[in-house]
Amino acid sequence: MSVSPDVQDHVPERVRQQLVDQLIARGWIKQPAVAAAFTAVPRHLFAPDGTSLEAAYANDTVVTRRGPDGKATSSISAPWLQAYMIETARLKPGARVLEIGSGGYNAALLAEVVGAAGTVVTVDIDAQVVANARTGLVRAGYPQVKVICADGEHGYADAGPYDAVIVTVETSDVPPAWIQQLAPDGVLVIPLRMRGHTRCLTLQTDGDHLVAAAALQCGFVSMQGHGRDPVRRVPLRGDDAVLVLDDPTTHVDEDALRAALDKPGVQQWSTVTVALDDGSAFESVHLWLASQPRPYGILTVDREKTVGLLDPQDRFFCPTLLTDDSFAYLTLQKQDAETWRFGAHGYGPAAGTLVADLVDLLTVWDEQHRGGSGPLITVHPAGTRLPESSGLQLLVPRRYTTTAITWPGHKL
Ligand SMILES: C[S@@+](CC[C@H](N)C(=O)[O-])C[C@H]1O[C@@H](n2cnc3c(N)ncnc32)[C@H](O)[C@@H]1O
Repeated sequence: MSVSPDVQDHVPERVRQQLVDQLIARGWIKQPAVAAAFTAVPRHLFAPDGTSLEAAYANDTVVTRRGPDGKATSSISAPWLQAYMIETARLKPGARVLEIGSGGYNAALLAEVVGAAGTVVTVDIDAQVVANARTGLVRAGYPQVKVICADGEHGYADAGPYDAVIVTVETSDVPPAWIQQLAPDGVLVIPLRMRGHTRCLTLQTDGDHLVAAAALQCGFVSMQGHGRDPVRRVPLRGDDAVLVLDDPTTHVDEDALRAALDKPGVQQWSTVTVALDDGSAFESVHLWLASQPRPYGILTVDREKTVGLLDPQDRFFCPTLLTDDSFAYLTLQKQDAETWRFGAHGYGPAAGTLVADLVDLLTVWDEQHRGGSGPLITVHPAGTRLPESSGLQLLVPRRYTTTAITWPGHKL
């Protein structure tokens, strides 16, 4: 990786400081040690050749590797998300950290936070990513970080137990090694996919299971190797409208769903309103709709190519209720400059029932869960019998674990 002369002068420090100021102003960085780490580590040294300083220090992802299909397989994660994950891990000087998914930059931030007495190990499955991470870490002044080329599903027992295991790749499950290699009070920070929605969970052990102290919507490249578990994609209009299914037991008649789009749809509006910048309301309502014990999917569309046909609230992650041959998704309608109202729009023989159900669920969310602390998310070894829940509880069974999403105090 070569560095152009203008990048080697003092300009990067200035752009870097702007990023740190922005992360502090927006509340992503609160801890002085994390601010110091972001100030110290030269992010541009981990970006691909030709990346401008602006791109290297934008509060955004930098893609570093793509697969044959053009999709990103590796990236430097967005700074706001890296700051959030490091802060939520509450690392002290001298701490031991395992990072799953490398790139080098985040490992360097971790090395700054844990200091000379600490330990940082980072594992990546891609030999090229490992080579780049090693080069970047040495050039940036962090040769002590151990970069391992392996399937991260198995962790790295040799340097454990860890005060924090920080997973920087989207996973649908929690492999046993990540839990076993945690110190007794250790924290597992993990982007866990539940019914197609990924939340960065801050998990701590409580007896035989893990409890999430915090959850934040996020996106990462998908896990490869043994833990690879892609979602099922049902093209409704080629790639312009795709239904994403993350539950192997959900059955749909793909031809019937496609044919449903040829007939008129059904629309119903709720009385539930929202401000467009209320990100936590959207995060909450998505998870609430995903938590219903009924067939569920996510609609993702190219807006320009589906005008007049589909108008989902979120073009990437739109909650969708399903039957075999029908679907209804969450939509929004502008009321005035600040207010929008939720509604449902559906297609297929059962669309009338589905849109009515979706609107009812929106009303319950508004009355009982909006603005609350959100659901309790717990992760249990697969096969564990969970005690009867007093709230609404969805179980997401995977190979190693079952995740329970419980909305406490929910009244039907
Ligand atoms: C978002 S990138 C990591 C970003 C990085 N932590 C940084 O410094 O910003 C995700 C990485 O996970 C890696 N990965 C995917 N599956 C993996 C697996 N099973 N074990 C280890 N690494 C994996 C990919 O090769 C990719 O480099």
